[in-house]
Amino acid sequence: MKKIVVLISGSGSNLQSLIDGCHNGTINADIVAVVSNQSDAYGIIRAQEAGIPALCLNAKNYLSRDEYDAALLETIAQYQPDLVVLAGFMRILSSNFVKNFSGKMLNIHPSLLPKYPGLHTHRKALENGDKEHGTSVHFVTEELDGGPVILQAKIPLFTDDTENGVIERIKTKEHHIYPMVVQWFVNDRLTMIDGKAVLDGNPLPAQGAAVE
Ligand code: GRF
Repeated sequence: MKKIVVLISGSGSNLQSLIDGCHNGTINADIVAVVSNQSDAYGIIRAQEAGIPALCLNAKNYLSRDEYDAALLETIAQYQPDLVVLAGFMRILSSNFVKNFSGKMLNIHPSLLPKYPGLHTHRKALENGDKEHGTSVHFVTEELDGGPVILQAKIPLFTDDTENGVIERIKTKEHHIYPMVVQWFVNDRLTMIDGKAVLDGNPLPAQGAAVE
């Protein structure tokens, strides 16, 4: 069975979708640990309720980003994961850290990348009057939110939309696509080759796979 470590910072609803996927067999893998950088992250409780070891590494206890990332690397390495999944982990990871997991680390970012890397994506989409918005699962590379896209999901935006309403609609999509991509990875269907996401031997286009 493949082993997954999930990194979180908050509510952990994406973590929950992965826990559920592992439990109901739609993901053939075990989540062997959850690591949070926030001690009050609700995702820690979700992990505990599922019987998964949950740890917190608080940045306040480290002098520098390099020191924090070294501790995070050591913590994750103990579990020898096949895959590291960022699920709302709100911390920039150093290049050195990312290099350790090249082709073995996924992230979900709430925009139709390459549009809106960084924070407040929903607000930006609404302020710009976008007609659609979405979320992207991608491999993590040294460029923030810049790794190759594997799968995107879209939602329409309406003139009376609120930021919170959009966040919730996006999350519903995320809970569908993230477990799907993780299952592709653990089934050895998905790799990163020469900086491109490759599914079933086919390099994916910039917007990722076309799946209904
Ligand atoms: C998600 O919307 C994800 O796209 C972003 O952070 C949010 C995490 O939500 N990276 P949750 O903690 O999984 O509920």
